[in-house]
Amino acid sequence: MRAQPLTCAIGAVVPDVNLGAASRDPALIAEIRGLLLEHKVLFFRDQDITRAEHVAFARHFGELEDHPVAGSDPDHPGLVRIYKSPETPNDRYENSWHCDATWREKPPFGCVLRCVECPPVGGDTMWANMALAYAKLPERVKEQIAGLRARHSIEASFGGAMPIDKRLALKAQFPDAEHPVVRTHPETGEKILFVNAFTTHFTNFHTAANVRYGQDYTQGAAALLQYLINQAMIPEYQVRWRWRPNDVAMWDNRCTQHYAVMDYPPCDRKMERAGIVGEATY
Ligand code: SIN
Repeated sequence: MRAQPLTCAIGAVVPDVNLGAASRDPALIAEIRGLLLEHKVLFFRDQDITRAEHVAFARHFGELEDHPVAGSDPDHPGLVRIYKSPETPNDRYENSWHCDATWREKPPFGCVLRCVECPPVGGDTMWANMALAYAKLPERVKEQIAGLRARHSIEASFGGAMPIDKRLALKAQFPDAEHPVVRTHPETGEKILFVNAFTTHFTNFHTAANVRYGQDYTQGAAALLQYLINQAMIPEYQVRWRWRPNDVAMWDNRCTQHYAVMDYPPCDRKMERAGIVGEATY
């Protein structure tokens, strides 16, 4: 199996593979897993596969999980529908740099996203390599953030647009999670900058070394967190994909972030995503 890199930072196209066939071939799955670890996002064109094949392919990498806000295909649990149309003008929340579901204690391993319908222009998705983002940080920043931990919240993100009773019920079901700001990839051992749009604050910044007076807490922590979150926006760490129907993207959610560009209203865009359960970050 060959992979054609799209940038020097992240992403490769894998031609001549049918994921339906791959879902029945453990040797192909092992090769795809190796390529995923190498390139972090893989793209497969012309995947005219069934939903059952989509799910079966993703299941080789772990259990699938539904999303508490976005609905799933009724016949294929774990296959989340990301359907956008002019009838859902406020239902547009993928256009921020994020790593999927870090509000879970065990954020996803990765996702397999298939394009069912895309607008004639626009609606691209971008990914950023967060291992590279960490590696390129100034040494003084790496020293400052070593050992820092942060809170990730579904309440402050998806919950923000809900009435208070629904928001609190969502929070009760999915309490905030805490993760290290620098995560170690469980398979490659790479260090990864692990803060994103779901991150609300550091949880162990308030030490005598960092905070003399209350003002230090607000200014120092918030500015540092925002600086780190903004690293995903650096173009040199990114790849951008122009969708065609039946394209599939598979990403390693442990070391990437992504951004779905919302530049296509009033057109429709329909994507289906199999999210694969991950592990604790410690
Ligand atoms: C997502 O944020 O997981 C979906 C990305 C997309 O719709 O392009």
